[in-house]
Amino acid sequence: MTLEEEEEALYAAASSSAESDISARSTSFDPNFDSDMSRYPASVTSSIRAHVYEGGLRYHAYRDGKYPFPNDDVEQNRDDMKHTMSLMLCRGAHFYAPVEDMFKNGAQVLDLGTGTGIWAMELGDKYPAAEITGIDLSPIQPNYVPENVHFFVDDFEEEWLDPENKYDYIHVRYVVHSVRDMKGLIQKAMHHLKPGGYLEFQELHFYPRCDDETMTAETPYALRDFYHYMEDGMRAMGYELHAVLSLTEELQAAGFENVRSRSHKTPIGLWPRDKRLRLCGLFMRTAIMDGLRGLSRRPFLALGWTQLQIEMFLVDVRKATMNGMFHTFFTFHGIYGQKPLDGGQGSNQQSATATPPSPVGH
Ligand SMILES: C[S@@+](CC[C@H](N)C(=O)[O-])C[C@H]1O[C@@H](n2cnc3c(N)ncnc32)[C@H](O)[C@@H]1O
Repeated sequence: MTLEEEEEALYAAASSSAESDISARSTSFDPNFDSDMSRYPASVTSSIRAHVYEGGLRYHAYRDGKYPFPNDDVEQNRDDMKHTMSLMLCRGAHFYAPVEDMFKNGAQVLDLGTGTGIWAMELGDKYPAAEITGIDLSPIQPNYVPENVHFFVDDFEEEWLDPENKYDYIHVRYVVHSVRDMKGLIQKAMHHLKPGGYLEFQELHFYPRCDDETMTAETPYALRDFYHYMEDGMRAMGYELHAVLSLTEELQAAGFENVRSRSHKTPIGLWPRDKRLRLCGLFMRTAIMDGLRGLSRRPFLALGWTQLQIEMFLVDVRKATMNGMFHTFFTFHGIYGQKPLDGGQGSNQQSATATPPSPVGH
């Protein structure tokens, strides 16, 4: 089989499994639930549902400029592709915290930066007794959703109107690179979790690494350069691209207990021998290729680049990404912590059991 034929076969296998996932989903519509934002006044509603267009890309309009990346079809497809890849990487696990029993018994779950809502809806289908709320700046979630899933347009960095001690589990995935005040967010989660509840992050560390000699620190590799510039551009805009690396310490410092982390190598491309990892690599590479324009625009403009400079640089980045000679990978981190059962009153703000992700020098 040629590489192209194998790639096609992998795509076909992936799309048929995605289709069966979709048809298996028992979507229903709750006429009493205002998933069309009818709880908002009309003027607010239209501004929430509007979008901003820039350089051929579409961005959220509510709190315009808060999130630096587009919300158009390309970006939504990438998010769904990354979702499928994450489940493959985690062997089907939607979460790592020990919350399955809570979910079966009817937990209150919050998904921050829910995106297309795919994680929230799958969780809702799997645990019908649980109540899942997804929050996002963009109104890009479907109207027909499982009865126990509700979506709201909101900025999770603003004050939460939810009561204290409401949630059993708070989930955050592929979002921390765009959070301006991570400490504040973790404190808010602590306040609104029930004692004994869990906060879990699932994040990719967007920096290509390599375990063999195919990409060393000296090897010219434009994809690595791309992430250097992304880091600088994001920082110029007030974000920390590598925020995932300090999450363990931040959870401990905020008083979370039983902080645990797991990590998985996420290949970029079709270089692994293992079929599951090859498929993950194909998804990751496609997500990178499809995202280069949308991801780079605002951060690179913040560094003073012109659109032409960006486009010319991306030619090299695409070549490097598609070059199967480089055996590179990102690292996926699943990190969670538990709110103390005494509500944090007697916490010593430290956990002895944590396994922090190893920082990467670059
Ligand atoms: C890369 S997507 C991830 C979507 C989803 N968590 C997933 O894993 O499929 C990041 C999402 O976070 C949302 N987001 C970023 N900052 C936010 C904020 N302050 N409040 C609400 N949503 C936010 C963005 O609008 C975007 O939809």
